[in-house]
Amino acid sequence: MGMLILGIETSCDETSAAVVEDTGDLSRPWAVRSNIIASQIAIHREWGGVVPELASRQHLRDICGVVERALDAASIGWQDLGAIAVTEGPGLVGALLVGLSFAKAAAATLAVPLVGVHHLAGHIESIVLENGEIPLPAVVLVVSGGHTSLYLVAEQGRYELLSRTRDDAAGEAYDKVAKLLGLGYPGGPVIDQLAKHGNDRAISLPSTRLTHADRNAPHLKGDLDFSFSGLKTAVLRHVKSREGRPFTEQEIADVCATFQRIVVTTLVERTFTAARRYGAASVGVAGGVSANSRLRADMNAYGAAREIPPFVPSLRLSTDNAAMIAAAGLRKFRAGITSPLDINADAALVL
Ligand code: KG4
Ligand code: ZN
Repeated sequence: MGMLILGIETSCDETSAAVVEDTGDLSRPWAVRSNIIASQIAIHREWGGVVPELASRQHLRDICGVVERALDAASIGWQDLGAIAVTEGPGLVGALLVGLSFAKAAAATLAVPLVGVHHLAGHIESIVLENGEIPLPAVVLVVSGGHTSLYLVAEQGRYELLSRTRDDAAGEAYDKVAKLLGLGYPGGPVIDQLAKHGNDRAISLPSTRLTHADRNAPHLKGDLDFSFSGLKTAVLRHVKSREGRPFTEQEIADVCATFQRIVVTTLVERTFTAARRYGAASVGVAGGVSANSRLRADMNAYGAAREIPPFVPSLRLSTDNAAMIAAAGLRKFRAGITSPLDINADAALVL
């Protein structure tokens, strides 16, 4: 058996621990031995979004049990671990600290290396964890509740930021639109479902294109950036214009379908624009919103038409989990990178 690494992820509202094996196979470098996720969604749902202090407290309650279950499910003990990988940022600082403190204590006690991992490197490596190494250079879209960014992966373990959202993340836009339609939290899955029964041209909403002035702003790379707050505001205006006259189920489905068409089209078009510009041999999509059924279908259709294969992790690995953190940790460890025991949680860590 190859080296085993324990991954720990507590950056937002999932407490997760995983055991991943270094297979020694260069084309399929990692194998998931266990991946335990304790979701706090039920706790935060009541508040319509993640409450940071509640998240930290729940991580504290869950972390020991989740790690023990990850070791049990992999049928191993503490002494079998060769290293510990943990998310050091970005995320909620109080939440990050729970996982990081646990990981440091475990690494110190076991005298094994600690590897601090960037949360988005984890999302990017979730693609490789499942598909094996993908053709490089690759353009990877990381799209979640906290992030909407395009990265160029020119070589393994190197991530170059190409663009990001100027305002809301795509998942955040889903969550806010769901909230104002009274659909609950999190918004992505429910809008995805309702959109299936809606007409995606039923109402007029603005596209998410940047204005000319925005695109040419000197400090920005320009046309690959994203912006979703205007679209969200347009949905809000549409809802307000109906004051006193409630939506029918069909009308709600139509709003969902139209909103989703615009978000997904923007994500897909910008990803393939970047792919063409940087000569990408493949395209990747990771993060919670990659679970979206239309995004998956449209990515596949665009990829087939342009002969650039798209790679997406399965649903279980697309939302926050520790297996992806363990995988990104193994990537760093194999490149000779480990972290000192005094690393700190960094809410705004850059990749
Ligand atoms: O990656 P993730 O689990 O956590 C963050 O790092 O943010 O992503 C959560 C986000 C939420 O905003 C949720 O609404 C969105 O992913 N999401 C979806 C779908 N499933 C989850 N968005 C669109 N369609 C879905 N099917
Ligand atoms: Zn995430």
